[in-house]
Amino acid sequence: MNWLESSLQAVPHPAPESVDPNLRATVQTSGYKIVQLANGVHSVHSLAHRETFHPVIGPVAEAEALYVNQLRLAERLHHHGGEFVIWDVGLGAAANALTVLRATREIPSTIRLVSFDNTMEPLHFALRHAEALDYFHDYQNCAQHLIPHRRVSFLNGAQTVEWKLHLADFPALLAHSQSHLPARILPPPHAIMFDAFSPAKNPAMWTLPLFTTLFQLLDRARPCALPTYSRSTMLRVTLLLAGFFVGVGTATGEKEETTLAVNTLDLINEPLDRNWLQRANNSTSAEPLWESEYRQSPLSQATREKLAQHPQFK
Ligand SMILES: C[S@@+](CC[C@H](N)C(=O)[O-])C[C@H]1O[C@@H](n2cnc3c(N)ncnc32)[C@H](O)[C@@H]1O
Repeated sequence: MNWLESSLQAVPHPAPESVDPNLRATVQTSGYKIVQLANGVHSVHSLAHRETFHPVIGPVAEAEALYVNQLRLAERLHHHGGEFVIWDVGLGAAANALTVLRATREIPSTIRLVSFDNTMEPLHFALRHAEALDYFHDYQNCAQHLIPHRRVSFLNGAQTVEWKLHLADFPALLAHSQSHLPARILPPPHAIMFDAFSPAKNPAMWTLPLFTTLFQLLDRARPCALPTYSRSTMLRVTLLLAGFFVGVGTATGEKEETTLAVNTLDLINEPLDRNWLQRANNSTSAEPLWESEYRQSPLSQATREKLAQHPQFK
């Protein structure tokens, strides 16, 4: 890899640590620990949220299935002229971002990678455990550079990469960007990797106001796809009401189905149909979160009526 940045720092050696054999986990004094999944792969676990990133098949396999393959990134990049913008919502330990960069590096292209997180702690932590996580390799210096500088530009094989990190509360940043339209604070994406913690633990990242704003920040003339790991009825209703077309997403090994939201129907193979709508109408957990407090409830009458009017079901 030919780095454009010449001043990248070396990554410090891992801090001393103790191992709890019952948990099969490396115990840390920070808010994160390394856990070993059943298939032997390591991942990061947040102690505060009590959730493991990519918990079943591991970081790289999940990112490949959910984003690289499902988004047909290689094919889209091959046929794409100009910059291809990817939003990486929930940078975390950078597994999604680095898996995408590694998978597409031989395609002559320009990627603008825009990452979002409200903390750099998981990335700091992951870099200290780069060996166990086994996905940083030659991107270690680049990820290290991102922490103090919030941006890094480099040649990634045949690809040019501009990587920027927005360290902010994502819902607040979106609302700010929307209130400053038509100025584009955030470049409109062609693809969005949406990887917050689960709605029950991280409800602020799954509300209808958030996805409505996100949809409004897309460029109508720029086809965009947003895969995410959840297949819950509540999430799918939220995405539909926000303005997206919504389809069944591919299996990841962890889930037999995920969700794919798009701003143009051409990008989905299996749009949700009227049978799904019927099931949503009967579900006890389908009404979107209007605020950042988690709760489950059936669809309200107003939501039922709006859903039935969605062009996808006409
Ligand atoms: C499941 S982890 C992401 C894992 C990551 N995509 C990876 O590949 O390693 C969820 C991330 O969402 C971030 N997050 C949660 N709430 C947020 C908020 N309100 N604003 C921005 N980021 C948030 C967390 O800090 C965490 O890093």
